[in-house]
Amino acid sequence: MPATSRSPSRMSPAMEPPADAPRRPRILSGVQPSGKLHLGNYFGAIRQHIALQEEGDCFFFVADFHALTTIQDPAVLKENVRAVALDYLALGLDPEKAAFFRQSDVPEVTELAWILSTVTGMGLLERAHSYKDKLARGIPASAGLFNYPLLMAADILIYRSNVVPVGQDQVQHIEMTRDIAGYFNQTWKKVFPLPEARLDRQLIVPGTDGKKMSKSYGNTIDIFAEGPALKSAVMKIVTDSTPVEAPKDPQTDNVFALYALLATAEERDALAGRYRAGGLGYGDAKKLLIEKIDERFRSARQRRRELERDPGLVEASLRRGAERARGEARETMRQVREAVGLT
Ligand code: TRP
Repeated sequence: MPATSRSPSRMSPAMEPPADAPRRPRILSGVQPSGKLHLGNYFGAIRQHIALQEEGDCFFFVADFHALTTIQDPAVLKENVRAVALDYLALGLDPEKAAFFRQSDVPEVTELAWILSTVTGMGLLERAHSYKDKLARGIPASAGLFNYPLLMAADILIYRSNVVPVGQDQVQHIEMTRDIAGYFNQTWKKVFPLPEARLDRQLIVPGTDGKKMSKSYGNTIDIFAEGPALKSAVMKIVTDSTPVEAPKDPQTDNVFALYALLATAEERDALAGRYRAGGLGYGDAKKLLIEKIDERFRSARQRRRELERDPGLVEASLRRGAERARGEARETMRQVREAVGLT
């Protein structure tokens, strides 16, 4: 699949299904605006999000409320939100197909998070890996960080979502959301379907040091890096010291692992053959990897440059997405307020 299969077109009305059509699964996910997106993000989540817009009724948002737990510089927050919105649109998210919006443009989620908090035990929140990990890394815990899973549950439930495509690290949060939805439904009235996590094929995306690619390890290769920046990231990939002439094992090499994610099966087998035959240096393999990255993301980069020149278009897409999302959120909150007796 090319990275840019569709380009967000100018404002034409989204196609409405006939009123008696069975409801397609509601698919929802949030993206943290945490800076430059890298290949780990792409294979872990973004690619799946973009493919799903063909399958269901998709809601995708930029989690700017959540980002406040880590980003407290307003200029940085704004810039990151803008950047991730551009990235998604450039990579093929089509705002005609999926509602794409900023989390904070639907402030009703914070209201729902409050109501959910009243049926959620402290113990449940204390068990969250993300909270425990951040504490362990010495990040001082705010109440917002502690309540992160409650806001995430509200994000999911307010759109009455069925499917939540995420990476493995978010699965516990979806399980907590199911528990929280269950408490609500039992305490008051069944308003919420129980959502399910959906994982993409479990691909291992090694970073330049061979550990899982992650911003927090500083080992990323960014999707929109090109030219010298891309080259310097790829050149950092750690390889062993097998000399150029000697045969090499593709299975244990990080350059090969990344190449394999981007190449066709034939290309992958061909390169594996050259590794085993000897005579191919890691520098040559890195050049091939750079070519593959360029090839995969060339059109997305082009599209991103175009979108950057037209900030009004991006803003209009986000606003329109928010309107649609907000309509759904208001309907849920009407049911919630009625169920709990807030009228
Ligand atoms: N916590 C998610 C992450 O760090 C982002 C997120 C916020 C999210 N709300 C969500 C994901 C709701 C799925 C559903 O990646």
